Parts: sequence; C-alpha cells; structure tokens
Amino acid sequence: MRPPMKTHHLITIPPIPTPPGAMATPHSLFLLFILLFSTSNAADLRIFHAERHSPTPLDSVLSLARNDLTRLAFLSRKVTSVPVASGQQVLQSSSYVLRAKLGSPGQLLLLALDTSADAAWTSCSPCSTCPSSSALFLPANSSTYSPLPCYSSWCPQFKGQSCAADSAPSPCTYYQPYGGDAAFTATLSQDSLTLASDVIPNYLFGCVTAVNGSSANLPKQGLLGLGRGPMSLLAQTGPLYQGVFSYCLPSFKSYYFSGSLRLGPLGQPKNIRFTPLLKNPHRPSLYYVNLTAVLVGRFEVPVPPGSFAFDPETGAGTVVDSGTVITRFVTPVYAAIRDEFRRQVNASGGYTSLGAFDTCFSTDEVASVPAVTLRMEGLDLVLRVENTLIHSSATPLACLAMAAAPDNVNAVVNVIASLQQQNLRVVVDAANARVGFAREVCN
Ligand SMILES: *[C@@H]1O[C@H](CO)[C@@H](O)[C@H](O)[C@H]1NC(C)=O
Ligand SMILES: *[C@@H]1O[C@H](CO)[C@@H](O)[C@H](O)[C@H]1NC(C)=O
Ligand SMILES: *[C@@H]1O[C@H](CO)[C@@H](O)[C@H](O)[C@H]1NC(C)=O
Ligand SMILES: *[C@@H]1O[C@H](CO)[C@@H](O)[C@H](O)[C@H]1NC(C)=O
Repeated sequence: MRPPMKTHHLITIPPIPTPPGAMATPHSLFLLFILLFSTSNAADLRIFHAERHSPTPLDSVLSLARNDLTRLAFLSRKVTSVPVASGQQVLQSSSYVLRAKLGSPGQLLLLALDTSADAAWTSCSPCSTCPSSSALFLPANSSTYSPLPCYSSWCPQFKGQSCAADSAPSPCTYYQPYGGDAAFTATLSQDSLTLASDVIPNYLFGCVTAVNGSSANLPKQGLLGLGRGPMSLLAQTGPLYQGVFSYCLPSFKSYYFSGSLRLGPLGQPKNIRFTPLLKNPHRPSLYYVNLTAVLVGRFEVPVPPGSFAFDPETGAGTVVDSGTVITRFVTPVYAAIRDEFRRQVNASGGYTSLGAFDTCFSTDEVASVPAVTLRMEGLDLVLRVENTLIHSSATPLACLAMAAAPDNVNAVVNVIASLQQQNLRVVVDAANARVGFAREVCN
C-alpha cells in the first residue's frame, strides 16, 4: 500500500480580507497594463517612478496597451497546452506540477498547479532553506528579471515592507504563511513566464529566498496560482486567455507528463455541462460550486438540512481544488456517505482504517462497489471507481478515497480534490462564472 498522501493545503477559514484597491479600479488596471506590456525593466522602474511623482500621459499608454492586447489575442489563436504530471512521481510532492519557463533565457521549472491560490512564487537562488536546493530559479541569469520596488502599488497587496523613511528605495519583500506549518520570505518580482510557446512578459511572482518551518509540504520548485482572484494567471493575462482554462490530471501513479493545462477558450470540450461558480468576497481565489447532494449508487444520502449551504461569512460551501489530494466533506456529510457506502458494499470481512481513510476493505470480499455521484446545480458528476477507491498494490485492499474535513481549519468547507478529478477535464470558465467536467483519459 502506498503511504496515505498528505493534503498540504491552503484552504483555511477564517476569511482573509480582500486586499485594498484590488483589481477593478482604473488605477490598478493601469498598473496591470504596465506590468504586462512594458518591455524592459528600466522602463518599468521609470514608469513606476513617474506614476508616483508626475502624471504619465495615461491615454496614450492605454491605447498602446490596447494594440498589444489585440495582437496578443491574435497571436493566441492556437491551442496552448502545458504538460502536467503527478508531482508524487516526478518530484515526491503531493501536488500536480506543470512545466513552465521563467526568465530570459527560460529556466525550466516544475510549478505546482494550484487552483486555490493566486500569486505565483518560485524558490530563488540563493535559498538554503528552500525544499530543493538543486532546482532554484536563478534571477541573476535572467536578462528580464527585476525586483519590484517597495513603493510599487502591488507591494501593499502582499503586505510587503514599506519603504524606509530616509534611505534609497529597497525591493518589496513580504512574508507569507503556507499550509499551516510553513512560511516563506519572498521578493516581489517580475520576469517573462513561458507557458508552452506563450511568453507572458513581466509576470508578477514572489522570488522566495528563505523558508521558515517545515518545507515538507511546500511545492518543491514553486507554484503557479490559477485561482480566481487578483494576481492569478487569469488576472495577469487578461484578454490573452479570456478567463478560460482547463486541466486534466493523470493518475497520481502516472510517471508521464501526459496531463495538460489548456489555456484559453480554443480547444476546450464542446459538449460539456457546467455548474455556476459562487463568489465568496472573503476568499476571492476559490472556485466555489453549489454542491446540492451526494448519491451513493442511486441513493441520495440523507444529510442534516443546510449541510451543503454556501456561506461567504463562515467560508462554508464546496470548493473545487487541484492542490488538495483527497476529497473532504464536513463531518455529518462524510458520515452519511460512508454509512451508505458501507451498507451497499456489504464487505463480509468488515472495514479497517488506514491513514486518513476509515473505510478500507478486502476487494476479494465484495461483489461490486457503488458509484458516488456529486450532484451540483446543473450537473451530476458520477465518479468512476478510480476516483472513488484507492487500491493497495500489494494486497487486495481498497479504501473509500474520501474523508471528513479535519476539525481544526477546514471544518466547514467541502473540497472536491485531485484524486476525484483524475482523468477528467475540468474546464474553468471564470469569465462566465462556471465550471464544467468532461471525461478524458490523460494517463
Ligand atoms: C548562470 O550564470 C553564471 C554566471 O554568469 C554561469 O556561470 C552559470 O553557468 C549560469 N547557470 C545557468 C544554469 O545558466
Ligand atoms: C525565520 O527563521 C529564522 C531562523 O531560522 C528566524 O531568525 C526568523 O526570525 C524567522 N522569521 C520569521 C518571520 O519568523
Ligand atoms: C444551489 O442550488 C439550489 C438548487 O438549485 C438552489 O436552491 C440554491 O439557491 C443554490 N444556492 C446558491 C448559493 O446559489
Ligand atoms: C450482506 O452480506 C451478507 C453475507 O455476508 C448477506 O447475508 C446479506 O444479505 C448481504 N446484504 C445485502 C444488503 O446485500
């Protein structure tokens, strides 16, 4: 039996307030254009400077940027497909990873694909406390790298250190907790990000220079945030991908980069059912869906009223996440699923626990296993056996691959996690606030 996988994640309640001056203001949109479309670091610094001390001819810059957008949209009329693999196989980490290049010339990095985070970060040289000292991004080797100054308008959004009163402006550095047992110090930076053959100039990311606490659950080389909030890939690329991406995660046992992250509306499945995304202003990164019932076989499991209710204040509801490994339900919902599942499986040898799983049984002793269906507004996601059971390789043992939410941090949120998404294409259409699921084998 493989060791039970750790869920390393990020989804922590209580709510985090939305950063001040988030995306929608003309001012920050202007800065976003600058970040996206200015061509050299020197120019950036000058523009930041000018923006601070004397008005820039805003209109002309904006119209220049508009031409860029048209051109980028034109250039992107092809399918952008970024290879994705199981991090467990290629990096001994629990997250799925995608191939990206950062800098000029591009340095290959395997970044965790995280749909519940916005800001990207990568381990940067030098960093003696980073999880992998061998695969660090080398800022010094990139001709397009630049740190953002402490007076950058983005700095407060990361709770970065403000400029010291009477010394020269320093880079913006910030400190960020990660996953409950780690934290890192990073320099807010920008550089060219290459995804497949798309080059995204001046991508904003954190260049991590020190890690505090345990780095065991920290993505080994870095993370690409595909969340819904400001700073995410969608927010930073604007019209390039038109708020649309999809991914197919191969089995966590697969050694190949056979999965993919497909960016933009082109090449997405045509016949697909969508469910609306719900917006939680306290957790703008998260993809909340409206889970309304869970079926085991044909039987809808009985849950206490309000068990699936969406509540932005408490964070309650259901999130689709690529960075958590096993699906978690709030305790009464999980108990109802487990009891019904056990009743239908009717294993003669009874059930044992293994790690996070409490419903393990000998597959020699059961005739068949019922399908588990996640009923969301507008669609039924019927999980296949590979998305429902986790099998031991050595013995005829299988476990129901779901669990109750831990009592401490995630007690109110249901998480549809990566094991339940393997060999599905998950289409996120953030522009139209919906997410869809289609069958696709990508092992
Ligand atoms: C980075 O730059 C240094 C100094 O210019 C050079 O010696 C080294 O080979 C470069 N490393 C990579 C990975 O390009
Ligand atoms: C991080 O750990 C170092 C020691 O390893 C310590 O000196 C430093 O204060 C810590 N930083 C924070 C912000 O906790
Ligand atoms: C979720 O879907 C149910 C059934 O369609 C509906 O009654 C409920 O209002 C929806 N919840 C939200 C938060 O949209
Ligand atoms: C469960 O299995 C037992 C034998 O182990 C059998 O007697 C019983 O009828 C089964 N129940 C169902 C609901 O299939």
